[in-house]
Amino acid sequence: MTASSSTLAARVNARRLINGPVEGEFNPFILHPIKYAFAMDAYKTGNDNHWLPTAIPMQRDIEQWQSQTGLTDDERRVVKVALGYFTTADSIVANNLVLAVYRHITAPECRMYLLRQAYEEAIHTNSYQYIVESLGLDEEEIFSMYRDARAIHDKDQMTATHTPALLDPAFKTGTPEADQQFLRELVDFYIVTEGVFFYSSFAAMLSFRQRNLLPGTAEQFQYIMRDESMHMNFGIDLVNGIRTEQPDLWTPDFVREVTDRVAEAAVLEEQYALFMMPRGILGLNAESFGDYTKYVADRRLASIGIAPHFGVQNPYPWMAEAIDIPKSKNFFETRVTEYRSGALQFDDF
Ligand SMILES: [Fe+2]
Ligand SMILES: [Fe+2]
Repeated sequence: MTASSSTLAARVNARRLINGPVEGEFNPFILHPIKYAFAMDAYKTGNDNHWLPTAIPMQRDIEQWQSQTGLTDDERRVVKVALGYFTTADSIVANNLVLAVYRHITAPECRMYLLRQAYEEAIHTNSYQYIVESLGLDEEEIFSMYRDARAIHDKDQMTATHTPALLDPAFKTGTPEADQQFLRELVDFYIVTEGVFFYSSFAAMLSFRQRNLLPGTAEQFQYIMRDESMHMNFGIDLVNGIRTEQPDLWTPDFVREVTDRVAEAAVLEEQYALFMMPRGILGLNAESFGDYTKYVADRRLASIGIAPHFGVQNPYPWMAEAIDIPKSKNFFETRVTEYRSGALQFDDF
């Protein structure tokens, strides 16, 4: 029996990003009909972008890493610090998604994307582990940086302390105060952590790719950055969607708080970039990283309709192109073709 058009319309009308009905005819287990196309689009794009780290060759990376002259000490430090940050950051993100964000989101199409995102976070964690193992890095050193390195600890601390409701199992949405708290923490989660805190490392790692250094590692970071830009864009759509459904949450005080937090994150990210490359690398100096971080922060604010805070130019316009992997380079298309020819080659990136 098919649902009548009035039933379908009623389902669409009842559905909400948060605080939607959780039982009966309108419960979040019935996907049809789709109301939030942005979430299904993100889900499909995530599937199209699917990749697996262990299919990416690391032989040249291993040779370069083991060679005395393959990389400078400063370049090695960048790799270790980026891995040190991401090994824990991606796990914190996955933890928040699965244990907290998911249960408050009542739109089934958004929940589908959250599942896809959670899987991608696991792929990323797998990728870092694969790089650490391939290069023969000291795993204890890398996986302990979240508490041993101040610049990493400060970012993780901001992520943790700014999402208390997400981390509280008793937290519930449904009042204006709680909904505003949830929205604020979504901003912190998607726009600060995934939108500001990841990008110095991405810029540094992709600069290796530009010089054909550590090609397997850089390629993995390129895919991770592509995934992360999807996560962030989904988060932006989610935040803007909740704002549309509950405009009263978006008060001038709220906007001020969000602006302050994004600006605070930019400062922490700049300190992290300095820690990662105290003398700069590959023609990227610490000052330009500060500008890049501020530029990214302003872009994130603009994405949720907030005026820029810093007003600086992008010092790395090449970053915009770095995530734009042509469709013909789709991971599985490439892999299938190369499986047929009996070789795995990705060195045309
Ligand atoms: Fe991730
Ligand atoms: Fe992510």
